[in-house]
Amino acid sequence: MSTLAKTATAGATFSLDGKDVPFEPGETILQAARRAGRYIPHLCWHPDFHPQGSCRVCTVKVKGRPGSACTLHASAGAQVESNTDALNAERKTLLQMLFVEGNHFCPSCEKSGNCLLQATAYEMNMQDMLFDEFYPRRAIDASHADLLIDFNRCIVCELCVRASHDIDGKDIFAIAGHGMGTHLVVNSLSGQLGDTGMALTDRAASICPVGAILPKRRGFVIPIGERRYDPRSAADPGVQEAS
Ligand code: FES
Repeated sequence: MSTLAKTATAGATFSLDGKDVPFEPGETILQAARRAGRYIPHLCWHPDFHPQGSCRVCTVKVKGRPGSACTLHASAGAQVESNTDALNAERKTLLQMLFVEGNHFCPSCEKSGNCLLQATAYEMNMQDMLFDEFYPRRAIDASHADLLIDFNRCIVCELCVRASHDIDGKDIFAIAGHGMGTHLVVNSLSGQLGDTGMALTDRAASICPVGAILPKRRGFVIPIGERRYDPRSAADPGVQEAS
């Protein structure tokens, strides 16, 4: 952005559900809202990575037109709707579809309490699945000495793909397939994580917002009740994303 354009947008605000939100030049609606302590539900967005715009949970309306808040740039004077009954109902439907497409049995998942999918479902007041469950049978990759992948829980947010590429410089993960067949794959000849150079200390090893990529031998180190989303909701401005 040019210096002139930066000057023009300095001090500018947009309206989010009727309240002004200041933004810096180049910020997206979600970034500005987050900085102002305002919650817009999201799954595939993370403050440390370029936005993917794939989950659509952050969909807002700008002048009545839908768009993803994580990719739409804030603009001065824009009227943005987010926390409306209609948009929250659509978000809840998206979450219900994600829950039935995979096997998300929260009470038996080590990620329970730290899971953004679970916390967002609570926030959207999701109390049932609505749709028939698929009960997919996807293999668990336990080939790595320190990490396991439960593909049954992957929501294809691509955060591990971005972390491995952008931070770790390894490209351990990729997305394959189309539509309903879209899925996470491991970049090795065998397709097994144990045959890659992935390390427990890699950013991709801890970025998963759900329970798809987990460290081995770490069950219940943090007790239920003391995890990220146990004392605070996903809407709490102080709550941190998975790191
Ligand atoms: Fe914006 Fe997923 S958080 S599309």
